[in-house]
Amino acid sequence: MAFSSFFFTLLFLLFLTVSDLFVHTRGLNFGINYGQKANNLPSYSRVASLIKSLNVTRIKLYDADPNVLSAFSNSNVEFIIGVDDLQSMKDPSKAQSWIQDNVQPYISQTKITCITVGNEVFTYNDTQLSANLLPAMQGVYNALGSLGLAQQVTVTTAHSFNILATSFPPSSGAFRQDLIQYIQPLLAFHAQTKSPFLINAYPFFSYKDNPDQISLSYVLFQPNPGSTDPYTNLHYDNMLYAQIDAVYAAIKALGHTDIEVRISETGWPSKGDPDEVGATPENAEIYNSNLLKRIEQKQGTPARPSVPIDIFVFALFNEDMKPGPVSERNYGLYYPNGTPVYNIGLQGYLPELVIESKSNVSRHTRNS
Ligand SMILES: *[C@@H]1O[C@H](CO)[C@@H](O)[C@H](O)[C@H]1NC(C)=O
Ligand SMILES: *[C@@H]1O[C@H](CO)[C@@H](O)[C@H](O)[C@H]1NC(C)=O
Ligand SMILES: *[C@@H]1O[C@H](CO)[C@@H](O)[C@H](O)[C@H]1NC(C)=O
Repeated sequence: MAFSSFFFTLLFLLFLTVSDLFVHTRGLNFGINYGQKANNLPSYSRVASLIKSLNVTRIKLYDADPNVLSAFSNSNVEFIIGVDDLQSMKDPSKAQSWIQDNVQPYISQTKITCITVGNEVFTYNDTQLSANLLPAMQGVYNALGSLGLAQQVTVTTAHSFNILATSFPPSSGAFRQDLIQYIQPLLAFHAQTKSPFLINAYPFFSYKDNPDQISLSYVLFQPNPGSTDPYTNLHYDNMLYAQIDAVYAAIKALGHTDIEVRISETGWPSKGDPDEVGATPENAEIYNSNLLKRIEQKQGTPARPSVPIDIFVFALFNEDMKPGPVSERNYGLYYPNGTPVYNIGLQGYLPELVIESKSNVSRHTRNS
């Protein structure tokens, strides 16, 4: 009797373990940008519950918010974190203290796998800032190395798609001439450290600027005639893949075929100013849900069919404090109260409100 109940307990535990594995492998392999330029976002522990309910296993932050990193301790979620202070990261001792303060205390419990140094740095046309980018990335990389973390954490930066001067046809992709002096050595760094080249790509911007010339179905991954690159004969049925391949071509033009391109941001706003054509909840829903289907199918782009697209959707929440046109505050999959802005088949929900102050969040979640 005792033995058989022991046996059944064992079987039950085994079952739990196996179903756990199943749940993890079922997780959709896409990431979400968790931006926090808002004054009304839910508590960190509620966000952690939401992310778990979505089965999302990768998050990108624009900083290294210790509240978030703590709220996700012992979770299955991988993090890309960010640092913007290029001037300090150039300095080896400052870079080392930054890693000691922002990475080392968390990395044993929270999977930090990548650090982005700067976001869209080249778009400012600030020669000092642009010149600091690679030395700052090297500073962070060397600091990780001296702390024994270089194998676990890669170092990169996220670029705007505007660093390309030419993007169509995709095989003609080329970087802006004035940026090549910075990008060429950056590519050597990526190849040497095996880190990905990240690009923020928004077919929405192209559509909004040329709604009469660009087909909405082409940018929304809907059935459409597509376009064929006359130099490669590769056929494109959506703009995002054409943009990714244009980046591959621009990198190749500088002599590299050894660097992977990933999408650090893409998305579609559910609302915009009157002149922001196409910013509607319907289009946002179609863009994001069709994108998720492509990710589920592990599709590669026409030029890299065997490399599944690697995507971070922008963004988790609408962020009410972002400057700029109305669209900037309306990229979220969720309103800050946890209601989905539209239904993309992710049955996310926010759990019951737990009354807690932000300063108590990390303790609360670490114990739970
Ligand atoms: C930076 O320079 C590029 C190319 O000359 C230009 O298209 C872009 O508008 C400039 N950006 C800013 C913020 O001045
Ligand atoms: C997450 O995975 C679980 C277990 O496989 C599944 O029941 C649930 O529907 C998934 N949730 C979403 C939002 O896909
Ligand atoms: C934080 O938690 C502690 C212990 O649970 C509690 O005594 C304290 O009042 C809380 N602080 C705030 C600001 O809620």
